[in-house]
Amino acid sequence: MGAYIVKENLNAVILAAGKGTRMKSKKHKVLHELCGKPMIHYILDTLEDMGTTQTLMVIGHLGETLEEALAGEVTFVKQTKQLGTAHAVMQTEEFLQGKDGITLVLNGDHPLFTKDTLQSLIQIHRQKEAAATVLTAELADPTGYGRVIRQGDGSVSRIVEHKDATEEERSVHEINTGTYCFHNKKLFEALKLVNNNNAQGEYYLPDVISILQEQGEVIAASMMADEKEAMGVNDRFQLAEAEAYMQQRILKTHMLNGVTIHQPSSVTIGPDVEIDSDTEIFPGSSLKGNTKIGNNCVIGPEADLFDVLVADHTKIRYSVIEDSEIGSNVTVGPYAYIRPNTSLAENTKVGAFVDLKNAQIGKGSKVSHLAYVGDAEVGQNVNVACGVVTVNYDGFTKHKTVIKDGAFIGCNTNLVAPVTVEEKAYIAAGSTITDDVPPEAFAIARQKQVTKENYVPKLRNKINRHNSL
Ligand code: UD1
Ligand code: CA
Repeated sequence: MGAYIVKENLNAVILAAGKGTRMKSKKHKVLHELCGKPMIHYILDTLEDMGTTQTLMVIGHLGETLEEALAGEVTFVKQTKQLGTAHAVMQTEEFLQGKDGITLVLNGDHPLFTKDTLQSLIQIHRQKEAAATVLTAELADPTGYGRVIRQGDGSVSRIVEHKDATEEERSVHEINTGTYCFHNKKLFEALKLVNNNNAQGEYYLPDVISILQEQGEVIAASMMADEKEAMGVNDRFQLAEAEAYMQQRILKTHMLNGVTIHQPSSVTIGPDVEIDSDTEIFPGSSLKGNTKIGNNCVIGPEADLFDVLVADHTKIRYSVIEDSEIGSNVTVGPYAYIRPNTSLAENTKVGAFVDLKNAQIGKGSKVSHLAYVGDAEVGQNVNVACGVVTVNYDGFTKHKTVIKDGAFIGCNTNLVAPVTVEEKAYIAAGSTITDDVPPEAFAIARQKQVTKENYVPKLRNKINRHNSL
């Protein structure tokens, strides 16, 4: 019989009831974005990745906005008065008290912890069979943070807040990151004993550490390998610092995966973007949302992509693309604007000053310059020449244009939708097409040219007479 392993409950409590005053914002602090993604989602994604049993979020100030933004993702617990971090955790009592397993407590405004960091916290907690394990960091400037006070044998005895610390305690550089792993039942027993006799008149969660220590429980600490991850975001300057750190981490991951990034300080890549190897990213590019890029592509300079799927060997320069799919061996730009719901099949070309919206362009087709193609279905090997416009909007509703395989749409053609141009039809330059064009037909819809031989001298005299009057 194989070993039967029962998975231990892993609960998570995220504290997010505080005011976040220093952000000077009407938006909840944890909804501010790092590299295009709200900071709270970094924490939630990591927790999900770790397979938490349940995730609770303590909310207060601007709580409604969190309930709306994160509906269905976490269980919300209200803390009506912000009486301190211990009081905040206490609010989760009805969900957690008496439950088996361990409980991770995290601050909503510390978005930089990696899964590895949190997992080693849990691992140390389990190895040491601790009642509480604190995630700590050694900071050059520990000002403001709670300090980790250790005993002669190196074991943690307590955490003292900066405001309550003596000069000697303030000289300690090991800080409490505000992230802990607790034996769940013991946590809730100890929370009942926390008081608010301190400089801030608050119920401090770190006091649970000394309470458990005095009861003879094992207290452990997990020191972070990279102290930069410990950073919390309190104001917009720290937001920018955290973003820079996160951006660097994301860029580095891509580089180590085989992506070349030129002038990385000018490139923005969101946390959920995927890029295959041997693709090169050029300066000034921004890749965000669920963008996925294949191998051997050339992206940028100045490619701005949001939610875009790009296949292999495609080149995109100086262009903006949203919510679209670009096939392999495609060339886009310079200066193309590709709006949502557009797809470019393999071997297509979209050139300078082309605006596409809700357009499906078939294999090998070209829209090389100065065109607008919207609400359109374009077949394979179609040539949409310079200046073509799909007249998709009559001021009331949008209409569809269909252009079938092998058709040729001459320069400056207006295709007044709804209209269909059948296979291999040919439209003469300058036409305004209002009726469907059958297969292999030639359509011309423009005024016949009038040429008056030797008329210019007469015209000149006429104008001169008029001007001398
Ligand atoms: C806290 C720790 C400190 C640690 C630091 C790390 C305490 C008493 N101190 O200090 O040891 O070094 O984090 O950043 O815990 N919150 C609530 N309800 C409350 C109070 C706070 O939900 O009643 C939330 C806040 O929204 C925030 C988190 O708890 O997300 C931390 O609170 P904050 O007041 O910022 O604690 P610090 O003073 O930074
Ligand atoms: Ca505080």
